[in-house]
Amino acid sequence: VSALPEGYSMRPLQRTDFDTGFLDVLRVLTQVGDVTQQEFEQRFDQMKAGAGGYHVLVIMNGEGKIVGTGALIVERKFIHHLGLVGHIEDIAVAKDQQGKKLGLRIIQALDYVAEKVGCYKTILDCSEANEGFYVKCGFKRAGLEMAHYY
Ligand code: ACO
Repeated sequence: VSALPEGYSMRPLQRTDFDTGFLDVLRVLTQVGDVTQQEFEQRFDQMKAGAGGYHVLVIMNGEGKIVGTGALIVERKFIHHLGLVGHIEDIAVAKDQQGKKLGLRIIQALDYVAEKVGCYKTILDCSEANEGFYVKCGFKRAGLEMAHYY
């Protein structure tokens, strides 16, 4: 994985990240709601318990604030001889930090994890407006998303 800007670092999300800007970065992507510290920690623990299925990465700036995030969920299948499929989800870079290749570095890191853990492919859903970004990250259009909202 190539270099981040000077002073920036990448690491897995930690249980202590409730007030380091993580949820604010996700607000760039969509509505998050009022999540309490207890709810955040409970969800973190549930992900941790998920048989190595969740890999949430964050990028910190030099001041210890989270400015970017992304997740890889490893789906365990019966088909393809117990194959593993990576799902990239919830990629977000703080508005004033976009265009510095942070998004690209997050995708490269998640892709690296997916290949390392043995996924035979990684897939994601995105809007037409973000297609160009994912093409630059090495992805290509495949399939069609269907959704059923409750
Ligand atoms: N369309 C076309 N090209 C793009 C786009 C876009 N929407 N966004 C970035 N690029 C290009 C950049 O110009 C750059 O190209 P270059 O290498 O020729 O200079 C390359 O893609 C890498 O861009 P980054 O600087 O790494 O992108 P950034 O750090 O700004 O992150 C992101 C991109 C994550 C889409 C950011 O703009 C963002 O957080 N947007 C709001 C939330 C969002 O839409 N997230 C993605 C949802 S889809 C999902 O989560 C699976």
